[in-house]
Amino acid sequence: MEEQTDLTIRKAGPIGIFDSGYGGLTVLTEIRALMPEYDYIYLGDNARAPYGNRSYERVYQFTLEAVRWFFRKGCHLVILACNTASAKALRTIQQVNLPKIDPEKRVLGVIRPTVESVASLSQSNHIGILGTEGTIRSGSYELEICKLFPDIAVTGESCPMWVPLVENREYDKPGADYFVQQHLDRLFEKDPLIDTIILGCTHYPLLMNKIIQYVPKNVKIISQGKYVAESLRDYLQRHPEMNRNCTKQGSIHYFTTDSTEKFKQQASFFLNEQVEALQTDLEQK
Ligand code: DGL
Repeated sequence: MEEQTDLTIRKAGPIGIFDSGYGGLTVLTEIRALMPEYDYIYLGDNARAPYGNRSYERVYQFTLEAVRWFFRKGCHLVILACNTASAKALRTIQQVNLPKIDPEKRVLGVIRPTVESVASLSQSNHIGILGTEGTIRSGSYELEICKLFPDIAVTGESCPMWVPLVENREYDKPGADYFVQQHLDRLFEKDPLIDTIILGCTHYPLLMNKIIQYVPKNVKIISQGKYVAESLRDYLQRHPEMNRNCTKQGSIHYFTTDSTEKFKQQASFFLNEQVEALQTDLEQK
């Protein structure tokens, strides 16, 4: 049975930002920089991260649990600040679950806004996508780019070690160079004409200092946070009814499914500030 929310009483609530772990904090930072007046709840499913190598069924199940959790917290709008969840779960949640749970709630992802804003930046019309195995295998970036820019050649490279490097705070250590160079070499072997690379995983901006060392100077490397933030602002301007459903006190609350102490330590590297988090369970009691 799908849970139903009461459609007659609409109480405004915070905007939900979801990631399997800490990567979504790179998107949250950009969203808050652009729209500091809104209230936000960030949830990291750290106990079950990484999602990158998991099956469709698992990523869909975990993401749907997270979306329901946000709705119980009073959110009307949830951003999947995770490419893997956007690639594997977003469409089904939008098309199958939301109409039953509450057709007026919205769940948005990060792939479409990234593609809309950045695909046209390429001069050579050859774009590289770096992402988790799940994101690359799903072909979601190719599909979205093909719909909007059919002349662009897209080449993907999955980088399964990169999320663990970031989650374990090895992203700026010498050992990270080996894995960073390996995948960039492979990407350019597949298509030497690439002049624009999309970091199609919200964890990867933390590896930026390493990545720039292994790509030709003329290549643009795109982190998606800024584009996702701009797209969210446009969305709220175009949807005043949703905007009214979002509270605006400038607050942020962090939740994790794992240890709050670990979240506090790790999150400070993504946010450059100390934050407190609450532990939560995604299953409905
Ligand atoms: N940060 C997530 C993404 O953007 C995935 C990390 C993971 O859980 O593998 O794809």
